[in-house]
Amino acid sequence: MGSVEIADMTREYAADIIAWRYPPPYDCYDLAGVEAAFLTDPGNGYLALVHEGRLIGFRVFGVDGQVPGGVYDGSALDTGGGLRPELTGRGLGRQAIATGLTYGTARFRPAAFRVTVAGFNLRAQRVLRGLDFTPTATFEATTDGRPFVIMTRPAGDSVV
Ligand SMILES: CC(C)(COP(=O)(O)OP(=O)(O)OC[C@H]1O[C@@H](n2cnc3c(N)ncnc32)[C@H](O)[C@@H]1OP(=O)(O)O)[C@@H](O)C(=O)NCCC(=O)NCCS
Repeated sequence: MGSVEIADMTREYAADIIAWRYPPPYDCYDLAGVEAAFLTDPGNGYLALVHEGRLIGFRVFGVDGQVPGGVYDGSALDTGGGLRPELTGRGLGRQAIATGLTYGTARFRPAAFRVTVAGFNLRAQRVLRGLDFTPTATFEATTDGRPFVIMTRPAGDSVV
């Protein structure tokens, strides 16, 4: 899709993202109920993904990418995110995630990246495997018992 860039999370972008609604079963990724101010707080690690001036998704770095019940150590930087709902399922996720990894490598210099993915979400797991993430643990969330997979990859290698 041409160049995709990381940009600061503005209030406008945040208001857009919290209004996104994914079709089931992906509705568990809706940020309904989250305050825009949470996304714009730099301490929470949210960044915008922009293509030709339009918000197409977001990436997040840090503990907000963790799920209660997972065992996490300091060996990797957690990351997550999402595409705008109408842009999912079109093969754009690889570039979106890769753009985040390139940015995260340059900014945070982590030894590795870690993503916690819902067990049912084979679509996301497939994109992550294509980016050299491998499953390193599975667990059930302490909040609702749903299964999750932790996937990791070393940072620093060529992303795409
Ligand atoms: C997760 C996400 C980045 C994936 O990107 P995407 O562009 O939608 O994914 P794609 O269309 O490239 O699909 C990836 C692969 O999964 C396959 N796939 C799609 N739906 C599938 C399903 N229900 N079961 C199994 N595989 C599926 C696709 O055929 C494709 O296979 P391919 O690699 O052989 O072409 C994107 O959907 C997203 O941001 N979703 C928001 C909610 C979410 O899932 N967040 C997860 C955060 S970890």
